[in-house]
Amino acid sequence: MIIIKQTKALKNYIIHSRSTGATIGFVPTMGALHNGHLELIRRSKANSGLTVCSIFVNPTQFNDPKDFEKYPITIENDIDLLEQQGCDVLFLPDVAAIYPQGMQHLPHYELGFLETILEGKYRPGHFQGVCQVVHRLLNAVQPDHLYMGQKDYQQCMVIKKLIELEKLPVAMIVVPTVRETDGLAMSSRNMRLSAAERKKAVQISATLQFIKREIKPGELETLRQRCQHYLTAEGFRPDYVAIADADTLHAVDDWDGKQQLVALIAAYLNEVRLIDNMLLQ
Ligand code: PAJ
Repeated sequence: MIIIKQTKALKNYIIHSRSTGATIGFVPTMGALHNGHLELIRRSKANSGLTVCSIFVNPTQFNDPKDFEKYPITIENDIDLLEQQGCDVLFLPDVAAIYPQGMQHLPHYELGFLETILEGKYRPGHFQGVCQVVHRLLNAVQPDHLYMGQKDYQQCMVIKKLIELEKLPVAMIVVPTVRETDGLAMSSRNMRLSAAERKKAVQISATLQFIKREIKPGELETLRQRCQHYLTAEGFRPDYVAIADADTLHAVDDWDGKQQLVALIAAYLNEVRLIDNMLLQ
């Protein structure tokens, strides 16, 4: 695997690879890699001639400075894991390489409704930051395929919108969430959980499973509230427990039994904020 730190050098490398006929798959990450990230790498490897992974902890998407400071960094281990998977290129820029003109006056993306709900509502500015960095990364890598995890369901929808807004010539592939054996969605933030918190964290995916099992056509508010109260009683601080249309993320209160739904949860366990989601059919 080659490691590239400058955007210009990356672009030159990509131009060269393209000239040999290779299609390019891209997996953007913030590092602290786990098997969820590696699944995206494996999917890219299976479909593309050249797989590029980026590791960049993007300051503009952290609405909470403490979350940014505490974001785990395990770069040596990340490099080993990527090498084991046969990743071809690691793009490892610093802040100046991504934001050469600084982080003031960055573009604004018209994300509309998507930015006003769920993660958009509880993490103001977060999705603008995600778009700012992903747009730059896509311009640098110019991939044919972009691999994103369903774990960040709303982020996938935001990136789909970014691709439409900017007419970017890339196909996005959404990869199902990779879970620990007890059901907890893998996440870099899980590293910050104590042993007791780690045990408890499974209740988020268990609650999603419960919704999936219990949901019936008709009103959904009772089930939704019951789950929110349950998590609160168990010591979580939920930002939301939501049941929404899987294509638009509009909340669904009265279900016809046919509409494709997704349940989404964001909840704090002490200092650590965890998110997860599940398609309900
Ligand atoms: P990060 O949280 O590092 O995630 C990188 C990619 O891995 C995202 O597409 C995410 O959805 C996916 N991923 C994380 N956990 C997963 C799991 N358990 N199963 C499957 N895929 C999983 O998301 C970001 O970074 C950033 O916002 C980024 C897009 C890189 C922009 O900075």
